[in-house]
Amino acid sequence: MILLTGGAGYIGSHTAVELIQAGYEVLIADNFYNSRPEVIDAIEKITGKRPEFEEMDVCAPVKVDALFHKYKVTAVIHFAGYKAVGESVEKPLMYYRNDLDSLITVLEAMKKYGVNRLIFSSSATVYGVPEAVPLIEGMPTGCTNPYGWTKYMSEQIIQDVCHAQPELSAVILRYFNPVGAHPSALIGEQPNGVPNNLMPYITQVASGIRPHLNVFGNDYDTPDGTGVRDYIHVVDIAKGHIAAVEYAMKNTGAEVINLGTGNGYSVLEMVKAFERVNKVKVPYKIAPRREGDIAECYADASKANRLLGWKAQYDLDTMCKDAWNWEQQLRKE
Ligand code: UD1
Repeated sequence: MILLTGGAGYIGSHTAVELIQAGYEVLIADNFYNSRPEVIDAIEKITGKRPEFEEMDVCAPVKVDALFHKYKVTAVIHFAGYKAVGESVEKPLMYYRNDLDSLITVLEAMKKYGVNRLIFSSSATVYGVPEAVPLIEGMPTGCTNPYGWTKYMSEQIIQDVCHAQPELSAVILRYFNPVGAHPSALIGEQPNGVPNNLMPYITQVASGIRPHLNVFGNDYDTPDGTGVRDYIHVVDIAKGHIAAVEYAMKNTGAEVINLGTGNGYSVLEMVKAFERVNKVKVPYKIAPRREGDIAECYADASKANRLLGWKAQYDLDTMCKDAWNWEQQLRKE
């Protein structure tokens, strides 16, 4: 049975679906801090199988111990964590406490119960301000905000624990920019309040909730002056986790692996693609640069292909279509 901490969240829920469809038994532990109980029903609706579920905070050692005691966990995918960059700057202690505590608590329980496979959600944010693109796993790391540092520190903790426990196998996945939603439009991203990320902002502008998109800077050193990112369909990200679980079953030690497509698209390319694919208007205004943003960030995705046999399948049009289907579904509720 695979334990997904934070498995009701955006990436966790898509991974739960792919795991169940691949024949795995799935156990979700989530406190619904940034997700909803209906997600569990939606996973069941898509797959025809209800995952095991425990509502709990994985920072609580007694509860996590009881969880490992109750279920026969063979691998853990640790998604649980806070993820808003701006909030992490305002509330660093909240971020360090939650995101490091949850990881350490899970690692302690894994050790006690002899669970030796861990997949961890890291982020391309650990590359900081890249010296060059595409980004390769061995390149220098460093962060610009506490959220990023929690990922950076978590990676270090996992490396150290793998060193001390040679039987442990850990795959640290550095996600680039996950977007889109399940093609069923039954699960997707549900940002609280004003979205920070580009795609949810675009979908809310397209649906008329927000008047226009602010494009954060058009004077970067990129082809059209707007920021370039490696957007990747969330179902591809989810499938990357299945490949990582399978890899972890056969290997030991820690591996850091990028999950990206290898393609970079600018903000304006995203807007144009979204408008073309969905036949909607996305009005935008050029705004000042956002603090902490970088010009370009996209992956060298060859390690994932080499080690995991995984490669992103979905193109930009599908990302835009599925993001819009999900937004429209949300507005019907
Ligand atoms: C952001 C986080 C990163 C986190 C990732 C999770 C920052 C600085 N970085 O990455 O740490 O891991 O989300 O998904 O917050 N943009 C606009 N207008 C908007 C929103 C975004 O022009 O309203 C632009 C940004 O300037 C950027 C691109 O769109 O060029 C993508 O932004 P976003 O979706 O926030 O992702 P990142 O900044 O790459």
